[in-house]
Amino acid sequence: MSFAPEPPIGCTAGSCRFDAGDVRVRECRDGYDLVVTALAEMSSAELHELHSQLTAEYDALVARGLSLDITRGKPSPAQLDLSNELLSLPGGEDFRDESGTDLRNYGNPQGLPELRALFSDVLRVPVAQLLALGSSSLTVMHDVVAHAMLHGLPESERPWSREETVTFLCPVPGYDRHFTITEHLGIRMVPVAMTDAGPDIAEIERLLAEDPTIRGIWCVPVHSNPTGAIYTEEVARALVSLRAAPDFRIFWDNAYAVHHLTDDVPEPIDILSLAAEAGNPDRVFVFASTSKVTFAGAGVAFFGSSPANVSWYLSHAAAQSIGPDKINQLRHVRLLKDAAGLEAHMRRHRDIVAPKFDAVQAVFQRRLAPYEAATWTEPTGGYFVSLDVHPGCAAKAVALAAQAGIAVTPAGSTYPYKKDPLDANIRIAPTMPPRSELVEALEGLCTAILLAEVEKLLAA
Ligand SMILES: Cc1ncc(COP(=O)(O)O)c(C=O)c1O
Repeated sequence: MSFAPEPPIGCTAGSCRFDAGDVRVRECRDGYDLVVTALAEMSSAELHELHSQLTAEYDALVARGLSLDITRGKPSPAQLDLSNELLSLPGGEDFRDESGTDLRNYGNPQGLPELRALFSDVLRVPVAQLLALGSSSLTVMHDVVAHAMLHGLPESERPWSREETVTFLCPVPGYDRHFTITEHLGIRMVPVAMTDAGPDIAEIERLLAEDPTIRGIWCVPVHSNPTGAIYTEEVARALVSLRAAPDFRIFWDNAYAVHHLTDDVPEPIDILSLAAEAGNPDRVFVFASTSKVTFAGAGVAFFGSSPANVSWYLSHAAAQSIGPDKINQLRHVRLLKDAAGLEAHMRRHRDIVAPKFDAVQAVFQRRLAPYEAATWTEPTGGYFVSLDVHPGCAAKAVALAAQAGIAVTPAGSTYPYKKDPLDANIRIAPTMPPRSELVEALEGLCTAILLAEVEKLLAA
């Protein structure tokens, strides 16, 4: 490996941020051409030298006996603290809605009108078509698919379970729990490539033309899990205009509609109106929840769709429940108050979360970029960063990290059946650990990634 000119490693000359001990960068901010050779361009001697160095680094890491966890996208305790008022709300005798209805009792399967009104604008679903339900949107998604399997949708010729095959399109990398729902209910899954603007529409058109068993597609339109992609209106229009089976549905999981990390806030897409304009008013199911607004798993889930679909959903939900937990919904109205209150609340989340996302960028930029060891996304919101290492190295890197006490989301999780054909994608979830622990875990993961990649190159 050659370093030219001096100083050989790192730069402390000025405002340059590449000043840590082991840094090698192509060109630092102060203009030093400090390195480097990308791993793929290294000679065998260089790879061997780097391998010994990384092995020593890795052994030292293992010796530290770390126990760090960056597996799941959970809010941190500091974020949960933002909603602690919920624990004492609604308080006293304050259990009626604006119309004076006693919310302690059964009734109102649509949910609390005030809360539906609060989220109607950000989700771009008219209040009359937006339901406030239980505490988990995944439960609603699961139930919608289960109802379609057992009973069919209004346009279905028969229940989906009586079709020989039902197929869902799964933009990849995507959300593992979506894939779990479809796999669990016996639905075949076909991956579709994601782009920065949403799923690859040409590929979807081709698949739909070839395969009449396709009945659905999973979508996370804003700050997608895990890439952070934001669907453009053009992609949304194309999705609602696709030629597809009459009971084909877009599962529009707007889980991160209000979870922005920068001032670059995307304009919400009115997907239901776009679908109606395209002549497919019943094509879209909208889902969302306050899991990452207030308390994860103890928030409120939402379902929105066309009037026909909402009636279809309510007819099946009526067989499950006499109505949702409206006291919890009231608590949420009292905490968040109105659109401005929701925005201010999310701003407080951003203040806690954004520095952690910055740390991910800084560590990867410093440790991986100089070697061209990976590419990764730079999301402007949501909960994840999607990291692509050299093909064939993700599982090994995650296993090495695990042996060093650093738990990372299992490689393959972002693909249907947990099979990443390239074995390259790793989902990074920076929100839960304190920043110092996050950086420590990421540093260790980078060592594991570099070691896995160097070993693969040496074995080639
Ligand atoms: C895209 C997406 N949808 C849904 C959920 C979970 O939602 P809920 O807690 O409402 O079930 C998550 C959580 O990580 C998510 O990333």
